[in-house]
Parts: sequence; C-alpha cells; structure tokens
Amino acid sequence: MSTSDRRRFLRRSAGLAAATLATARAATSAADPVPDAVPEWTRTPGHPILRPPYGERSYHETGIVRIPIPGRVNTMSSASLTPLQDMRGIVTPSGLVFERHHGGVPDIPPHEHRLLVHGLVARPLVFGMEELMRFPSVSRMHFLECSGNTAGEWKGKGGTVQVTHGLLSCCEWTGVPLAVVLQETGIDPRAQWLLAEGADAAAMTRSIPIEKALDDAMLVYAQNGEMLRPEQGYPLRLLLPGFEGNASVKWLRRIKVGTAPFMTREETSKYTDLMPDGTARQFTLTMEAKSVILRPSGGQQVRGPGFVEIQGVAWSGRGRITRVDVSVDGGRSWRAAQLQEPVLTKCLTAFRVPWQWNGAPAVLQSRAVDETGYMQPTRSQLIAARGLDSYYHYNAIQSWQLAADGAVTNVHA
Ligand code: CO
Repeated sequence: MSTSDRRRFLRRSAGLAAATLATARAATSAADPVPDAVPEWTRTPGHPILRPPYGERSYHETGIVRIPIPGRVNTMSSASLTPLQDMRGIVTPSGLVFERHHGGVPDIPPHEHRLLVHGLVARPLVFGMEELMRFPSVSRMHFLECSGNTAGEWKGKGGTVQVTHGLLSCCEWTGVPLAVVLQETGIDPRAQWLLAEGADAAAMTRSIPIEKALDDAMLVYAQNGEMLRPEQGYPLRLLLPGFEGNASVKWLRRIKVGTAPFMTREETSKYTDLMPDGTARQFTLTMEAKSVILRPSGGQQVRGPGFVEIQGVAWSGRGRITRVDVSVDGGRSWRAAQLQEPVLTKCLTAFRVPWQWNGAPAVLQSRAVDETGYMQPTRSQLIAARGLDSYYHYNAIQSWQLAADGAVTNVHA
C-alpha cells in the first residue's frame, strides 16, 4: 500500500463526520506522513514484567498531579486539588483524590487502631480492624466533595477547573454499613445524633443525624480495590454519601450516640453559611446538584475551529443526575447532553455534547438537574438567595469563555 493509499484508507476507516475528518486530515498531512518503518519498540521485546511490582503509570503522564491550594503548602491544615481537567470517566485514581486534613496525615498501624461505639447504646463496644472486616461488606461508587469546593468563585477569583472545582473526587468505597455495626451495639430509642471523632492530631469531630447513620453511612476501609490511602483515612473512615466531605471523618476512632448535635468547632465557627440577614445556616450537610465542563476549561487551548466534544461531570448529594444541559452562548440557549452510563446515586455522572465550533467567541456552561427536580442555579440566582458572605456550598453554573484564538478563561457570566 502506498503512503497516499494509506492516507485514504485512514480517512475512510475513520468513518467520522466531515468536520472530524478535517482534524484527521491535518494529522496525516504531507509534513507528517504515515510511517512505513516499523518503530523501534515493535522490533525489540519489551520489559518481561512491569517494574516496580506495584505498577506505575507511563512516565509520559507524570505531569498529572494534585496541586496544593495556593497559600496552604506547608501547613498542618492543608488541602490539595484533583486535576479534573485530565480526568477520564468517573473514577478518580487513588493517588489523585483531593486531600483536606486539619492536623496532618497520621501514621496509624492498622492492628493498633480501634473504633469505640458508646453513648446511648445498649452495649458499648470496641472494634479492631479484623473484627470490622468480618462484618458483611458493601462496595459503592460515590463522589466526595469538600463544601469549600468552588469557594473562590463567590469572589470571582477565577482559575483552572483544578483550582475552582478540584476539591472533588469519586471512588469505589468498600466497608461495613454503619447501620450493621449499630445493630451490634443496639441504640437507645432517644438517639437522634452521633458524634464522629477522628484519631488525627486535629481530633476532627462532626455531628451526624441518626437518619443518615441508619440510611447509607459506611465505615470504609478500602478504596478503588485496595486498602484506603493514608491521606484518605487509613485504616478506617466514615463515608456519608452526598454529604459535605468534612463530615466523612477520616481515621475514625470514636462514635458517640446522643440526643442532640454536639456543637463542635467544625459546625459552629466553621462549615456554616453566613446569610445576608446576618444569621448562619448550620448543618447544611447535603451537597446540592452541580456540574462543570472539564474540557474545554480554564487555561486550556482549543486548536482552531471544527469538531469539539464538550465533556464534563455532574453530581448531586440528593440522588441521581437526571439531565445535564449545555450552553455555548452564555445561557441563552441550551442543549441536553448525553449522559454516560452508569448513572449512579450520589456519584459523578459524565456528560458530553458534540459541537462544531465556528471560531467565534463563545461562553460554555453546563447545568445539572437531579432526581428531586432541583436545577443547578445561575451565579446571580445563587447570590440573590445567599448573598456574598458565604464561604461553603457554592454550586452555581460555571462559565468558560472561549476566545477566537482558542484560549479558554474563567469568566463570571
Ligand atoms: Co455545610
């Protein structure tokens, strides 16, 4: 087959829309001929088995990393952000899951770790890891989002999607339903709230409504097919699907059952929402529906007009995503995006929209609708309801401006 035959064959076999072909044609232009030579890596055998024994990604991909939140680099109370712009599908690799810890990452030998369950229970009990892992287990896919995610957008700070939305990840979590362990201890009929306490140096504590504890709360010891990573709470963490990330206490050492919330620092001075009338919303635990376009997004460059697949993720702490709409004209008109299966409850849902970009400036937006009928608000709707004194729970529609030169920037439409 001659080089030109091969080019024709490549074009035909691609079987794509006309505009996609334009991209393929550019890739096989005369300056970049289809190679006739068999490449070096085909002529010599590769490595016999992967080294080191715990596999690593290609060294060509090592630039995809978490980055610290600006200003929180070397402090004990620190955070790092998931590189969402490079995320494919809905599972966040364990090494890229965002971090937020308030007293550093503790080093806990699993055989020495204990969970105490006490308070308004019939039988106070202490569990070791082996005992917890003997209980009937469950694995579920859920997103985890810090309620401070996107907080910079209240003030319109801008940046890339990693900076704006990177306190968001999604994993398969394995553990014991908390309800199963509470069945073992028995709970007093007066029980209304639980205190969850971490074994880290911050002794992170949060109050959890009993309804959540008996619904889908999990005591998690594994993530994405292996034991938890240290920064994700090894050897044991709480997971409250759809709740603000901070309430899913890591390095869980104690659960106390009581009649009222425990009014810890993290739910009085922190993790509350200051409203325009000067009052503060408290125990706003459920994360509302939200979505964001990952590609194209802030800091990226679209290489010329033609076919662009707009790709993003949507999620809701109240259940399943039922619809995602995408706009390329700043919200004047909307198109329904295609949702990628599986669409799971309290889990990231990937969406995509095919688009022919004509090269004119455009403002790209997405908005999520969940199974309760809740629709993600515009930025002005959110500010009208909440004012500008809040820090947590910003879930407005995100706008990315695509300029005629292909540069993408964060704008506040
Ligand atoms: Co909250």
